[in-house]
Amino acid sequence: MARGFFITFEGGEGAGKSTQIDALADRLRGKGFDVVVTREPGGSQGAEALRHVILSGAAEPFGPAMEAILFAAARSDHVEQLVRPAVARGAIVLCDRFIDSSRVYQGITSHLQPSFMVSLERVTVNGMMPDLTFVLDIDPAEGLRRATQRRGTGIADRFEKEALAIHRKRRKAFLDIARKEPERCVVVDASDTPQRIGSRIAEIVETRLEASGIKPPLERAGDEI
Ligand code: TMP
Repeated sequence: MARGFFITFEGGEGAGKSTQIDALADRLRGKGFDVVVTREPGGSQGAEALRHVILSGAAEPFGPAMEAILFAAARSDHVEQLVRPAVARGAIVLCDRFIDSSRVYQGITSHLQPSFMVSLERVTVNGMMPDLTFVLDIDPAEGLRRATQRRGTGIADRFEKEALAIHRKRRKAFLDIARKEPERCVVVDASDTPQRIGSRIAEIVETRLEASGIKPPLERAGDEI
């Protein structure tokens, strides 16, 4: 059976994840791949319903464990309804944030117990680990400036609003994860131009797809004749 590829994009606010995801999706579609673009929290009907509850700050008064469980509930729905079926049919799934955001935002900066976070992650991911994760690394002061500019007159979400020192701690935590899991994670300097970042990401993805023997559906069909 065809197996696709699951790529996640992580990093602080304003790192340019969605710009890079869109560019990569265009490029891969141009080569004939079946590409699914998604995001967390969200990406499936159940998870999108929880997105507003979480990001509006409505769950904040109930504490970080409640928020972590809501993120986990959203992730479980997203994994089972969208990510796993897409990868199983051979698609390339590009996801804006995934487990590393929970590890960093809830685990590190909301100070939840590591054993609690590990258990939640195991249940929600249920084996559907990313094949590749890009950590887009940016100075949080610059990232927040970009996020503010992008938002225009909109309101900052529950997490964007937090102090710069917390965002700095998150940056370090993402880099720590990448150091501990070098097979899965690639750190990309997100202060570079979008074009250069895009070329670097595309090169890495194409190398990994080739190494994993993943081809666009039409080429695959040709192999099977
Ligand atoms: P975004 O869609 O603009 O990236 O907003 C999502 C926000 O939610 C962002 O501030 C990071 C935060 N978040 C967590 O705290 N934990 C998670 O598991 C995920 C997926 C996101």
